[in-house]
Amino acid sequence: MSLNQRSDIHSAMTSKNQETFDRALQRIPWATQTNAKRHDADGVTRRPPFIERAKGCRMWDLDDKEYIDFRAALGPITLGYQHPEVDEAVRKQMERGTLFSMSSPLEYEAAESLLNTLGWADKIRFMKTGADVNACCLRLARSFTGRDHLLTSGYHGYQDWFTLGWANPGIPESLNQYVHSIDYADFEAIERVFDENGHELAAVVVVPVEWWREPSKEYLQVLRQKCDEYGSLLIFDEVLTGFRLANGGAQEFFEVTPDLAGYAKGIANGYPLSAFAGKAEFMDTLDRTTITTTYAGETLSLAAAIKVMEILNREPVIEHIFDMGNRLRIGFDSIFKEAGFPAETVGLAPAITIRFEDEIDLHSPLRARLFDHLYDRGIFANKEWLISYAHQPSDIDETLEKMRESVKRTL
Ligand SMILES: Cc1ncc(COP(=O)(O)O)c(C=O)c1O
Repeated sequence: MSLNQRSDIHSAMTSKNQETFDRALQRIPWATQTNAKRHDADGVTRRPPFIERAKGCRMWDLDDKEYIDFRAALGPITLGYQHPEVDEAVRKQMERGTLFSMSSPLEYEAAESLLNTLGWADKIRFMKTGADVNACCLRLARSFTGRDHLLTSGYHGYQDWFTLGWANPGIPESLNQYVHSIDYADFEAIERVFDENGHELAAVVVVPVEWWREPSKEYLQVLRQKCDEYGSLLIFDEVLTGFRLANGGAQEFFEVTPDLAGYAKGIANGYPLSAFAGKAEFMDTLDRTTITTTYAGETLSLAAAIKVMEILNREPVIEHIFDMGNRLRIGFDSIFKEAGFPAETVGLAPAITIRFEDEIDLHSPLRARLFDHLYDRGIFANKEWLISYAHQPSDIDETLEKMRESVKRTL
């Protein structure tokens, strides 16, 4: 039975949640806008379907139940919910207006502060979503090279160019011929795709990190070298890694420079803004192809982004995120070991993942049971444990205590 037909999602749902959920299902397919927020996304049954408010690293559901949040609204919240300085910048801008009949000077101010923070790109344009900016980078690459094919790895958004491999009626079958998908750090597949289609590849579009895999700098270096050899553009999807792994994102962290990159989640602490950036010769392809949209110059998000960049450059945000992530990781691993729990942490500190021994494609009955116990105890996480600047050592220690109890109950 599909989620759209189900109202009795789980027996533990309170009447307030159930009633709101039933109403939402009548009017909103999935009862949400975001696949990952679907209530039955991963077999977990105790996750509340709605969150009413959030502050710092805490949030509250419709029953006022409090959670320590490790989901960061799926990534954008790097400084903590309702960061006072960011919200104040937005309030000030609201008094001047949100969108104008011509560009706002905030566009170049935000452009300068993002480019200065990133440190590698010459030019930048704004959009609204992660899917937008990846599509824009691909458009520029195709326009620049005059080629159609792409090699890709990782999730890049819902758009047609990328979701071809999925069971997704509605996407023309003919587009398939252009897309060559590989797994993260699959070196043999890289060789094969370049051998067979290297001279037709407009671009390689990859996520620099898959959070449930150990990161591979060599993977990015090999892609850089292959792109140079075949005249393809290297595009990093930095939607989640940007402003989280380092101020300059994965390209700074791994010291591999792409030709173009898409950013979104870390830019404006939850205000809707994304950006694509790159070397001038590639960005200037915008003189030949048209990328245009009405809302990308919306000023509230730009004001938020300028403030976020100021804070990133002023305070040890990334260092703190790594410290808290490592504290969590070391704590989890020692809890699992002590209890003989068949799981371990993987990935980088800003977004560790727990890997379960019985897991297939990130699905495991043990994972669902453990997470149900965690939700019951007020710990809100998903596959990646996303840390923000608002998490303090005491929040991490409280989480470890609750993980210890949850592991005991799961076994
Ligand atoms: C790496 C990556 N790329 C692209 C996207 C798509 O971003 P959006 O949902 O804003 O379109 C996501 C979203 O989860 C992402 O994590």
